[in-house]
Amino acid sequence: MNSRAPIVGVIVVAAGSGTRLGADRPKAFVDLAGRTVLERSLSSVFGMQREAQVVVVVPADLVPEAQAIAGHAGGAAASSISVVAGGPTRQQSVALGLAALGESVRIVLVHDAARALTPAAVFDAVVAAVAQTASGIVPGVAVQDTVKRVDDDDMVVETVDRSELRSIQTPQGFPRAALDAAYAEATVEHTDDAALFAAAGHTVSVIDGDQASFKITTPWDLRRAEGLLTAQPAAAGIRTGIGTDVHAFDDDSELWLAGLHWPGERGLSGHSDGDPVSHAITDALLSAAGLGDIGSMFGTSDPTFVNAHGEVFLTAARSRLEAEGFLIGNVAVQLIGNSPRFSPRRQEAEALLTGLLGAPVSVSATTTDGLGFTGRGEGVCAIATATVSRQYS
Ligand code: CTP
Ligand code: MG
Repeated sequence: MNSRAPIVGVIVVAAGSGTRLGADRPKAFVDLAGRTVLERSLSSVFGMQREAQVVVVVPADLVPEAQAIAGHAGGAAASSISVVAGGPTRQQSVALGLAALGESVRIVLVHDAARALTPAAVFDAVVAAVAQTASGIVPGVAVQDTVKRVDDDDMVVETVDRSELRSIQTPQGFPRAALDAAYAEATVEHTDDAALFAAAGHTVSVIDGDQASFKITTPWDLRRAEGLLTAQPAAAGIRTGIGTDVHAFDDDSELWLAGLHWPGERGLSGHSDGDPVSHAITDALLSAAGLGDIGSMFGTSDPTFVNAHGEVFLTAARSRLEAEGFLIGNVAVQLIGNSPRFSPRRQEAEALLTGLLGAPVSVSATTTDGLGFTGRGEGVCAIATATVSRQYS
């Protein structure tokens, strides 16, 4: 998550007007089950395993709004992100995005913001395939319908062998230098980046795409996406998770607890800021989604997380879950320890944590009647539970 010199760049094109959708604003800025189409797309990008430079291309008058959306989607754990104004055609918008990439970028992914539900795993697979083959890589799915070629009068000329056909999606990935050169020499408009790349003499391969990557083009597509996001999960679709964390008191540290700074209170030791409430919640979320634990996601010895505050972990866990199609139901966490006295700041802590996770978080606190390490005042413990539901896969 260090954003100094990423070798992967992702251009998210969102500068179209959305004529076929016919909404009162450009498509990427239309609401999709409570968040904009653009924010949903960016959540997937931020769910990528590899750190990336992200360039969002939007209509010139919506640059400030897109910056706010990008900040919200990425939170504290965002890869480096910039927003630039697009052009009159998709191809020109991509070219403007390419121009904003940093020097370190070697692999470029170009993604339609309109494919708002693309799973993060597709981005990871495209990056891996470009790195392995140095070709252009496009995700595609088999064509389900029988396809017929017709003449100008709609008379059927032939039935096309659909086993040879793929419906092509985004993100499409390319070696950066070759894509830059292909764009520089392009003289006609191509229907996608892979066609432009192939026209410059390069090879392109298809890897498995995902049905969830369908492009929101018409009002029907928007309703389909909304339906997938808001479907009421059956009780069986709800998953629970658990997380526990313990930190010892350390008189030389500042106290950070439940995402809050507690000046004048005894601090806790730890590689990060030693906030057991945030760490237990992060573990509970990852556990509920079956995505491992805080150590496997962040690496306990990673220097990036020295002194990192709870919101870094919580925001990153939320992005990861959302990218995998999980919605957080609620979180309950209990703090066990003699100090600090928690109740005066309970509401403040709950409001902060609820805001970070976009789901209700309740925090309670208890002591252990003088028993055990918490009772002896050696440290504090936090135990969290979380529920999540899978919205789509
Ligand atoms: N796009 C872009 N710049 C353009 C045109 C399109 O960045 N000048 C982007 C769109 O924002 C979209 C993607 O390219 O994310 C795919 O284009 P499309 O689905 O055609 O979107 P729109 O052009 O917005 O829609 P329409 O064609 O219905 O007007
Ligand atoms: Mg268009």
